[in-house]
Amino acid sequence: MSGSSDLDALLEAAREAIARADATQALLEVRASFLGRKGSVSELLRGIGSLPAEERGRVGQAANEAKRTIEGWVAERKEALERSATDDALAAHHLDVTLPGTGSPSGSLHPITQVTREMVSFFASMGFSLEEGPEVETDWNNFEALNIPPDHPSRDEQDTFYLEGGHVLRTHTSNVQIRAMTGRTPPFRFIATGRVYRHDLSPRHSPMFHQIEGFLVDERVTFGDLKGVLLAFGRHLFGDDVSLRFRANHFPFTEPSAELDYSCTLCAGKGCKVCSDSGWVEWGGCGMIHPKVLERCDIDSERYQGFAFGMGIDRTAMRRFNIPHLRHLFEGDLRVLGQL
Ligand code: PHE
Repeated sequence: MSGSSDLDALLEAAREAIARADATQALLEVRASFLGRKGSVSELLRGIGSLPAEERGRVGQAANEAKRTIEGWVAERKEALERSATDDALAAHHLDVTLPGTGSPSGSLHPITQVTREMVSFFASMGFSLEEGPEVETDWNNFEALNIPPDHPSRDEQDTFYLEGGHVLRTHTSNVQIRAMTGRTPPFRFIATGRVYRHDLSPRHSPMFHQIEGFLVDERVTFGDLKGVLLAFGRHLFGDDVSLRFRANHFPFTEPSAELDYSCTLCAGKGCKVCSDSGWVEWGGCGMIHPKVLERCDIDSERYQGFAFGMGIDRTAMRRFNIPHLRHLFEGDLRVLGQL
């Protein structure tokens, strides 16, 4: 091993092997096979000792030069391989930031919740505070204290869900009147909303529905105050053109009592399917709180008077969202609820 042709052949072999190495690991192996401790160039350098003295310098120099050349090619190839690895990685994980994202569907409040909140915030603006009462109620709070006598038709098992131990599922939110008034001294005004239960099932009735109850007690409260509050409420919900109609009625816990209708805003009172061609839609009941009810809550009925009202929330939500059937409110069908 002495001729420069040997070295040329070695360099040529190294150049080809380096060009063929297609990954960093393979390149390192090629480098080792030429420049490693047992590599061909190293062997060449080791053989120098056995050469005639006058050749040693020349061959040694050539071999060292070959070593540097190979190191240079390896470095070049290494850089090229790394660059293309980066390019491949970039191409494989190509990210188009201009593509639209995958949005997650957003939820919305149930129509009854929306209408309830709107009603509560209206009364909050008039200074009413929110009260709550349970759905499982005592006979006293649901009936007795409200002056509903034992033989009253609304206590019929056909109407009321009775539970063990003398409790009932509240048949109206008027139970909150008793709970809120007992132990309090007027003046006060409260609003309450929630679920109520009655044996009833038809396209216009569900065994569970929602009511809003309002009541105010003070000195010198009149039916005129009640009308004023309800008219403001009706206008807030249905617009300034709405009219209210009070029809004489009877509730054991109010005297006088009235049934409340609002003018059908769909047909402007001309008559349509929603108002059964009458021009009016039933809304709820109201009246002046019966003195006996005040007394059962230990309130001086000589000094204080109050008014109370209660209306259905479900029908109001149906009107507000144009929902044709009560069923749609309770089935929880997202295809329907998503449209509202
Ligand atoms: N509680 C009555 C009902 O459910 C409504 C009502 C409330 C009437 C308050 C008068 C006063 O029908």
